[in-house]
Amino acid sequence: MKKFIENLPKVELHLHIEGSLEPELMFELAQRNNIAIPFDSVDAIRAAYQFENLQSFLDIYYQGANVLINEQDFYDLTWAYLLRCKQDNVIHTEIFFDPQTHTDRGIAFDTVINGIHRALTDAQKELNISSQLIMSFLRHLDEDSAIATLEMAKPHLDKIAAVGLDSSEVGNPPEKFARVFKQAIELSLLPVAHAGEEGPADYIHQALNHLQVKRIDHGVRCVDDAQLVQQLIETKMPLTVCPLSNIKLKVFEQMTDHNIVELLRQGLQVTINSDDPAYFGGYMTDNFIAVADAHPATKQELAQFTINAIEASFINEQQKLNYINQVNNYLVNA
Ligand code: HPA
Ligand code: ZN
Repeated sequence: MKKFIENLPKVELHLHIEGSLEPELMFELAQRNNIAIPFDSVDAIRAAYQFENLQSFLDIYYQGANVLINEQDFYDLTWAYLLRCKQDNVIHTEIFFDPQTHTDRGIAFDTVINGIHRALTDAQKELNISSQLIMSFLRHLDEDSAIATLEMAKPHLDKIAAVGLDSSEVGNPPEKFARVFKQAIELSLLPVAHAGEEGPADYIHQALNHLQVKRIDHGVRCVDDAQLVQQLIETKMPLTVCPLSNIKLKVFEQMTDHNIVELLRQGLQVTINSDDPAYFGGYMTDNFIAVADAHPATKQELAQFTINAIEASFINEQQKLNYINQVNNYLVNA
């Protein structure tokens, strides 16, 4: 099954580009930009990646992002992730970036987006990987800051497909961001939001009702509300689930407790994603293997995660058909 998973075409819909910053590159950028970090080696950085919950991760994740200064840094970060995509047979990826993490420390919005976008353009040409960009608002900050960020994005709308909502979930419900999401939708940006990772099932309702989201990021706590699960099935609402992330952040104690395969078998539109692979110990293939090891599944079921992701992606219908054919061809010959 390992070979089958390695070669299976994959589509990633939940990846924070800042969360793909590997300790080696963090160290290199700290030296290149003369930024002090509280670690004296790559091993010391890795050793610090022990988390109790989402917040304990976020504290280290935002600190790590401090080494990103110049456009080339954002290019190098994104390019390194895309090379890993190639290795894992990821054919399409939809990437979150957190502008406020950078603009709040004086880095220009243009610096961030131009570096990321240039790498995505090169990846289409050189690696045959297609992509979309999702601008994510930090929910621990206020809505006015999100609105100011949307304003900065206006000259770059050709590069951005969607808006998202991430960071500290509990205490920062989706309804707090209803106005900025309405404005984003009016600009033809597609809405998605993290909900039901650590927060309650009600936050999933709020994301659907107040933000009009097209996908729920994480969403695994939906199981606390049977009626909501039924609604998610009937509306084919995609959930971008991140298995290794959920274990590292103790959303589930161990992979055998994870509900992703159960949700798939109930008919939910679940997908497998890596979230912050440099911090959580694995990219796409690692996540598929971890799920399959803990929950024996058929090749058809594993391929269904990719089919679900293609259907849930923000590419056009023709591209979706092409990718679905690619997966089906792989499956009949596997
Ligand atoms: N949840 C919330 N915010 C985040 C995450 C996550 O999994 N990763 C990066 N920011
Ligand atoms: Zn996430």
